[in-house]
Amino acid sequence: MRNGAPAGTARLDVAGPRLGIVRLVAIEPDLQRRGLGRILMQEVETYARRFGLQQLEVNSAKDAEGFYQRLGWVVVRSDRKNPLMTKTLNAGDIPS
Ligand SMILES: CC(C)(COP(=O)(O)OP(=O)(O)OC[C@H]1O[C@@H](n2cnc3c(N)ncnc32)[C@H](O)[C@@H]1OP(=O)(O)O)[C@@H](O)C(=O)NCCC(=O)NCCS
Repeated sequence: MRNGAPAGTARLDVAGPRLGIVRLVAIEPDLQRRGLGRILMQEVETYARRFGLQQLEVNSAKDAEGFYQRLGWVVVRSDRKNPLMTKTLNAGDIPS
């Protein structure tokens, strides 16, 4: 939220004892490219660690692949419309 209005959203599905799936990541169009997406994903990672999750996956929008890569995610399957990307959460690994 920003000034009482939504600025962005993300959903985290707990898919297994150690696996989380990130979905529906979005920042309001007029607020993009100001670092809010990075902050949002830092919060998602912190939240995921609290559940003991060690691995996150996302089916990335093709246009968002570079965004996730900047945050340390890697592509594991590129042969699909939405590339499958993953990030391993190491203890104490706070993304910069
Ligand atoms: C993808 C999205 C969430 C990024 O949010 P954002 O607030 O614009 O991202 P940030 O400003 O925090 O960017 C973080 C870093 O990623 C980079 N980045 C952001 N969007 C990028 C993109 N589309 N391609 C490549 N790099 C990107 C930024 O340059 C920044 O890099 P830096 O820290 O080295 O300067 C946002 O653009 C969005 O909502 N897009 C539409 C919906 C969407 O595609 N969601 C993803 C679904 S899987």
